[in-house]
Amino acid sequence: TTVDAAAEDYELGEFDDYMRKEIAEQPEAVRRALRGRLDERFATARLGGLGMDARELRAIRRVKFLGCGSAYYAGQLGAALVEQLARVPSDAEPASEFRYRNPVVESDTLYIAVSQSGETLDTLAAVSELKRKGGNVLGAVNVVGSAIGRECGRGMFLHAGPEVAVASTKALTNMSVSFAMLAVVLGRVRDLSTMDGSRIVNGLRELPDKIDETLAREAEIAEVAARFAAARNMFFIGRVRGWPVAREGAQKLKEISYVHAEAYQASELKHGPLALIDPDMPSVVIVPDDELLAKNVSTIEQIKARGGPVIAVTNAELPDGLADAVLRCPRTEPELDPILLTIPLQLLAYHVAAALGRDIDKPRNLAKSVTVE
Ligand code: AGP
Repeated sequence: TTVDAAAEDYELGEFDDYMRKEIAEQPEAVRRALRGRLDERFATARLGGLGMDARELRAIRRVKFLGCGSAYYAGQLGAALVEQLARVPSDAEPASEFRYRNPVVESDTLYIAVSQSGETLDTLAAVSELKRKGGNVLGAVNVVGSAIGRECGRGMFLHAGPEVAVASTKALTNMSVSFAMLAVVLGRVRDLSTMDGSRIVNGLRELPDKIDETLAREAEIAEVAARFAAARNMFFIGRVRGWPVAREGAQKLKEISYVHAEAYQASELKHGPLALIDPDMPSVVIVPDDELLAKNVSTIEQIKARGGPVIAVTNAELPDGLADAVLRCPRTEPELDPILLTIPLQLLAYHVAAALGRDIDKPRNLAKSVTVE
């Protein structure tokens, strides 16, 4: 298959496994995704592969992302970017369920099929269903020449380079970065101001260096991972911008460490799951430095009051002693926070799995691309 062919000429070099290598490659992968696509003069991005002019872009009334697993969570992150920057209603849906529910396909919706491999059968089937019903569908794929890329015929390539580890890292980051560019493109033909367009364009340009800064904190993250590796269950808690981050963090941890991880929206905790909080149930709480900071601090206090250990993942200054451990990344533009906040969670999952002696690149029961139903 394409993946195996890529794996053969893609050396591990100084790294023990591909996941660690692919995490480290993210700054370069993001640079590749941005190359030639940021337009400072007009405070926008250029995504020629979309094949749509300004009039067609303005006619889009809704954007729906479809993907499986982590590609679905990246789509959720993309939907939030599109809503914030373009004010176009947007959501994400698991591609794996799409064809079974006889979806209503609307002509003014832009559908985006999201897939690293471009071979995921469920996502391909969603594309076929959309095309049969006349849907306007674009691909966001990493592997050039893949089935989903061919079936969609247009879209945006992720430019992450070959990804071998079953757990996706750099491809997901590049999905989010591509969706931020798409959101700017959609925004700039609507009401996104030049100032805000520039703010995001500059934020994207600075992202690779900020990913580097986050990766430089690996030793601290590994130490926290070792402290919590004995936990059998973990919560991942986020609200609004932190929610897709929490879902992806939980996915990564369960996938490679086999620790049961469950993502919850912060406000939903009190409606049931708080009953599970005790000293053996650590919560990883995502705390972006945004207008909901105080709410997230109070979520941490509620968990602590019930005896639950808390690992805060943040780019904000938190009160001393609030959390039992803090994983930090730099500040960026608030809309881009989720992209950076995901990086410490990759390393957390990686080091928990390493502490438990798991087969990190090839977790049990999983395949890199799922080409069966
Ligand atoms: C990610 O870590 C997982 N291995 C998995 O959820 C993956 O994202 C999903 O199977 C979709 O794969 P694709 O992007 O190749 O379509």
